[in-house]
Amino acid sequence: MAALKYAGMDDTDSEDELPPGWEERSTKDGWVYYANHDEMKTQWEHPKTGKKKRCAGDLPYGWEQETDEKGQIIYIDHINKRSTYFDPRHAFTVEDVVVKPKRYDGNAAALEILQGRDLSDKVVLITGGNVGIGFETARSFALHGAHVILACRNLTRANKAVSLIQEEWHKARVEAMMCNLASLRSVREFAESFKAMKLPLHILVCNAAVCTQPYMLTEDNLESTFQICHLGHFLLVQCLQDVLRRSAPARVVVVSSESHRFTDLLDSCGKVDLVLLSPSKKDYWSMLAYNRAKLCNILFSNELHRRLSPYGVTSNALHPGNMMYTSIHRSWWLMTFLFTLARPFTKSMVSEKRTLCCCSDLSFPDQSVYFGWV
Ligand SMILES: NC(=O)c1ccc[n+]([C@@H]2O[C@H](COP(=O)([O-])OP(=O)(O)OC[C@H]3O[C@@H](n4cnc5c(N)ncnc54)[C@H](OP(=O)(O)O)[C@@H]3O)[C@@H](O)[C@H]2O)c1
Repeated sequence: MAALKYAGMDDTDSEDELPPGWEERSTKDGWVYYANHDEMKTQWEHPKTGKKKRCAGDLPYGWEQETDEKGQIIYIDHINKRSTYFDPRHAFTVEDVVVKPKRYDGNAAALEILQGRDLSDKVVLITGGNVGIGFETARSFALHGAHVILACRNLTRANKAVSLIQEEWHKARVEAMMCNLASLRSVREFAESFKAMKLPLHILVCNAAVCTQPYMLTEDNLESTFQICHLGHFLLVQCLQDVLRRSAPARVVVVSSESHRFTDLLDSCGKVDLVLLSPSKKDYWSMLAYNRAKLCNILFSNELHRRLSPYGVTSNALHPGNMMYTSIHRSWWLMTFLFTLARPFTKSMVSEKRTLCCCSDLSFPDQSVYFGWV
């Protein structure tokens, strides 16, 4: 009531209505503040209710936040080709109630982390989402309502994964699309097909990989582990960058590996040697190629974050956990043997009853990478 008296507007219909001379604005990250033009002052609290508020949710599809030459935040509606200083999310502000973040550890499952979240307004794209970690990620997002697209090199396998998820929940919005990361042409074609769907893109998970493959050159004449694990994803993100920016807040998640530590990209003089990325057959060692590609994943993710975060697109790289029994080991009998030995001690992908999907490691060490803001 004191706040109402202060505003001197006790008789208005809505307690949220601003007194004359006041204007509602928001910061870049969605906090609402109030500007009084007569007294030339700003404050966080609503002048009548004394409450603090923040914008709930994301900008509508097609909108982008920019800063003008005076440093003021401006909202651009790309679809209707107009701009405004008024944050379109103001219609959906919520009170700032401090909720203590829940703590998760390596045993927390993805479904547990997502519990209670409605992702029905999110579009998620996952490379290599037909098996392993990618599949469990896709499943978790889809079961929470997200529209999930599996970008895979084999449509038969990908459609099987779609059916599995839809058997679990018939309303799951999952679809498979062709994307072979070993072909730059295929990546470009995929990006064009995705754009033709006119969907936003809120989460792009660069997950697909191969490990310990025999030496192979791709159709682009590059070593295949490097191209599949890193370069294909690099191109994919470049092709979809505009969609990500338009869909902000959006994020890219690059699935890397702890093994990136066991290599470098330097020559004997300590200079970056790009030839190491796609070596000739005589200089190829499959495990080292994988480690280098995983190092590239992290360097790429960090730089991407630096470049795109001002536009509301974040990027994080993660290590999903050690030696999880997926099909990553399939190219080399020695790896299969080691993964089999380690299996009882590492995390399983799916629990016994298939009711608790255990992509816990996905969320570790930083569960917010996938799920934090959604
Ligand atoms: N498992 C672990 O212990 C572990 C540890 C550290 C990091 N990681 C990382 O976790 C991520 C997922 O691996 P995972 O263990 O789930 O392996 P996975 O079961 O072998 O899954 C790899 C996925 O990548 C896809 N893929 C391979 N080549 C492709 C290409 N040319 N184009 C498009 N997709 C392609 C595979 O498709 P197909 O089914 O058609 O072959 C499959 O869907 C990888 O980035 C890996 O480096 C895993």
